[in-house]
Amino acid sequence: MFVCICRAVTEDEVHEHCSAGATSVDAIGERCGAGEGCGTCLERLHEIVSERNATASTAA
Ligand code: FES
Repeated sequence: MFVCICRAVTEDEVHEHCSAGATSVDAIGERCGAGEGCGTCLERLHEIVSERNATASTAA
């Protein structure tokens, strides 16, 4: 499922960028452009990054 329509970025791609070290919405944007268009997806990007960061901090 696309999370960012403007840049055709899927949720799976966002998760892959998180796995590769992206820990912020800005970092996701730098890697694939997600969130750098209309901004509609920013709330969902923040949710995904927050969930991933929380999971990473509890797994450490
Ligand atoms: S849907 Fe992501 S920037 Fe427009």
